[in-house]
Amino acid sequence: MGKDSVSEKKPKLMKKSYIPFGRPDYGREEIQAVTRILRSGWIGMGSETIKFEKELARRIHAPHVVAVGSCTAAMMLSLHVFGVGKGDEVICPSLTWCSTANVVLYQGARPVFCDIDPTTFCVTPGSILEKVTPRTKAVMVVHFGGFAVDVLRLRLVLPKHIAIIEDAAHAFGARYPNGELVGSSGNLVCFSFYANKNLSTAEGGAVALFDQKKADKIRSLRQHGLPIDAWKRFTHPKAILFSAALKELGYKANYTDLQAALGRVQLRRFSSMQSHRSKIAAVYGKFLKKNLPWVLPQASVTCDRHAKHLFPIRIRKNSRIKRNWVLRELRKKGIGATVHYAPLHKMPLYENSKTNNLPFTEEVGAEILTLPISASIQRREAIWVCKKLMEVLK
Ligand SMILES: Cc1ncc(COP(=O)(O)O)c(C=O)c1O
Repeated sequence: MGKDSVSEKKPKLMKKSYIPFGRPDYGREEIQAVTRILRSGWIGMGSETIKFEKELARRIHAPHVVAVGSCTAAMMLSLHVFGVGKGDEVICPSLTWCSTANVVLYQGARPVFCDIDPTTFCVTPGSILEKVTPRTKAVMVVHFGGFAVDVLRLRLVLPKHIAIIEDAAHAFGARYPNGELVGSSGNLVCFSFYANKNLSTAEGGAVALFDQKKADKIRSLRQHGLPIDAWKRFTHPKAILFSAALKELGYKANYTDLQAALGRVQLRRFSSMQSHRSKIAAVYGKFLKKNLPWVLPQASVTCDRHAKHLFPIRIRKNSRIKRNWVLRELRKKGIGATVHYAPLHKMPLYENSKTNNLPFTEEVGAEILTLPISASIQRREAIWVCKKLMEVLK
């Protein structure tokens, strides 16, 4: 956490204080960067976005990164460039944020929910293979909480014509089991830079990929399908001709230089923000092991390769204490514990997917709770969370 962190001054452990589950860590550098862009006269997508994309690409060892308006947009455009459409099936977990499945509906395709591993809360090659049919066109792999799924192993067992898209909304900075950074797999890897994410630009997202043609196509699709970006549209001598060359229906899904300025600072500070998250995770991990061994944290959540976007725990159902009651009691005590996630296949929008036989998703969905974690939460706040959890569960 930066010495001049904006959020450092706020939380006080008074009766009325509230520790939110996630909180961005912005300091003087971010404020200066945003101010610089505001004063520059160009806040839309331009040269700052291009610099941010290049720095991201270098950081995660991916040849191309395209910044877009959100991770939702990144996933939607990824499905689009693989030609996913009507009649196709896309396999994804049910224990995820709704956008993982919603983007499949946007393309007119059908989400097919698969089960998860009850310890990592992530999909596995086995749970995905069970759902493959001749209509399967793609798989959305969610790196839940920041735990990276073994996509190399998945690629080996999955039929070659099925695309793998990684929902890495939680996983910027995470590593695959082989030690490589998430984003460097060669799949289309979609990140979120939403307010509470490990790298935060208020809103925003990006696709990391190896394929130049697909990268160019996403660049065009994020700007209505125009062949050039807004920056060049207003500066390039032949811009008028480019604008006239609209061939394909795209979307309004661009990034902005205001966000990129924030992102470039966050990227420079990323390692220190991550090491702070690791310290908070270690506080929780040690406390649970010693005092509440029947409360199970997500597997590997204290390990180096986990990005620690979330710190998920399972309040086991066979104990006499129920998860929702624990959640309510923690909230009353000012702890912003929350649920990631209620399974999608039980929600009215997806009820007619007639999904059944997801035993681990339902078990984890009924027991999961996430403790506050961020780069701006203080160690003493994490200890306070442990104390309150103990009071509730004792
Ligand atoms: C697993 C997962 N996927 C996708 C998203 C969507 O990210 P965004 O808000 O950037 O669209 C989120 C958002 O929190 C998420 O948690």
